[in-house]
Amino acid sequence: MKKVLIYKSFERFWHWTQAILIFFLMLSGFEIHGSISFFGFENAVTYHNVAAYAFMILIVFAIFWHFTTGEWRQYVPTFKSLKSQLDFYLFGIFRNAPHPTKKTVLSKLNPLQRLTYFGLKIVVIPVMVFSGILYMLYRYPQKEGITALNIESLEIIAVLHTIGAFLLVAFVIVHLYLITTGTKVLTNLQAMLTGYEELEDEGDKEKKSLNNFENQEG
Ligand code: HEM
Repeated sequence: MKKVLIYKSFERFWHWTQAILIFFLMLSGFEIHGSISFFGFENAVTYHNVAAYAFMILIVFAIFWHFTTGEWRQYVPTFKSLKSQLDFYLFGIFRNAPHPTKKTVLSKLNPLQRLTYFGLKIVVIPVMVFSGILYMLYRYPQKEGITALNIESLEIIAVLHTIGAFLLVAFVIVHLYLITTGTKVLTNLQAMLTGYEELEDEGDKEKKSLNNFENQEG
């Protein structure tokens, strides 16, 4: 095993800032929706807007970082080993079965994570941002802007934004549980905090398979 830098500093900054902002957007958003009462409606609207602007700025930096570093490749979905990963979470994990896929610096997401994060990045987050912006334009009329966009009713925007919010709540719940399913309960959390995680040494793996090969030959 070897300690390697798996999450770089911008990645950790982006991850935790995004986590705080999404949590905050959820809290204020569901107050606007009428489900909870925490900041008071007017404050909730103001806070939701401020957090939404911060979130959009963060997204711009994150997109830039992913494309300049090539890290976007980590999120390309794959169906290879998807079933064994699903089997692991549904059954294997309760029988102490080994993780079906190995984490490496170049491929740190398992197939299920790849698919889920890809869906979040390509569908859920864009839906939240675009419906949120349309919501902003509708609620704070800039007359021509609205007629130009021809938003006649808030309904479709509100429904899309709320469905996205529920999907994000579901994601956060599952994500919090899955954090605990690393090598040890806190391994994944520590990695996202410090950047480092103990992974199987690629060199060791090669040596091991060479040894096995020599033993078989001998
Ligand atoms: C950049 C992203 C976002 C923008 C621009 C945005 C913007 C807005 C705006 C302008 C409103 C209406 C506020 C009002 O009625 O005055 C709203 C409502 C709401 N937002 Fe967001 N939001 C964003 C992200 C999120 C996220 C990430 C969540 C939750 C995870 C969320 C949950 C909600 C909820 C539940 C409502 C109330 C919907 C309703 O009942 O009609 N929003 N958002």
